[in-house]
Amino acid sequence: MVILKSPKEIEKIRISNQIVADILCRLEEEVKPGIDTLYLNDIAEKMASERDAIPAFKGYKGYPFSLCTSVNNVIVHGMPSKKILVEGDIISIDFGVLYDGYYGDAAVTVPVGIISERAMRLAQVTKEALYKGIEKAVLNGRLSNISHAVQSHVEAAGYSVVRTFVGHGIGSSLHEDPQVPNFGKPGMGVLLKRGMTLAIEPMVNEMDYEVEILEDGWTAVTKDGGLSAHFEHTVAISENGPIILSERNGS
Ligand code: CO
Repeated sequence: MVILKSPKEIEKIRISNQIVADILCRLEEEVKPGIDTLYLNDIAEKMASERDAIPAFKGYKGYPFSLCTSVNNVIVHGMPSKKILVEGDIISIDFGVLYDGYYGDAAVTVPVGIISERAMRLAQVTKEALYKGIEKAVLNGRLSNISHAVQSHVEAAGYSVVRTFVGHGIGSSLHEDPQVPNFGKPGMGVLLKRGMTLAIEPMVNEMDYEVEILEDGWTAVTKDGGLSAHFEHTVAISENGPIILSERNGS
């Protein structure tokens, strides 16, 4: 069941997402060769606590950290560790909070120092695909128009979209209906209505879309060892088009 939100609720979801956006922005600044990802996890926890926000992922289905840090061939759900980031890596940082009863959820892929042209293009195309999807998050459109727009952009660039994981509705739960796949024919799925809030999150592999889950039960890697990138925004459907709740004011 898709839960429609009132303007008051959307404002709360926006506030939660602004907390996420501020923290992600700070984490992006901290990413450089020589740091480890537990350091990023610590900063996220400290900043969330300063704002009375509860990290959303920690404890979710037993996930033990506040951040997902997915490096290079890791698609999503990479766990923070003492492993050092090195020049040329790409890292997806995914973060969510619960604040005043509502969730925020967003992710960015950022370069570690100077990265290859190849890695840069993958991250760029993934970000573009997210925005192509968001453009289709309009009143009276169909959900799969978002999916199709993401897939078309990714495949036109020669990459593949991951099928195993999808975006989701978000509100007073981290994951609500509907699921938001990053692939599919247009014109299918639920009709988009005012008050829907969706987390759109393309995961893009440079080669095949197949996924493997590591022994830890969480870390999702590309089966072929290729690079993967991931961006996520929480978006509200309104009369005036999509509102990106997790985009920082002015950026
Ligand atoms: Co999400």
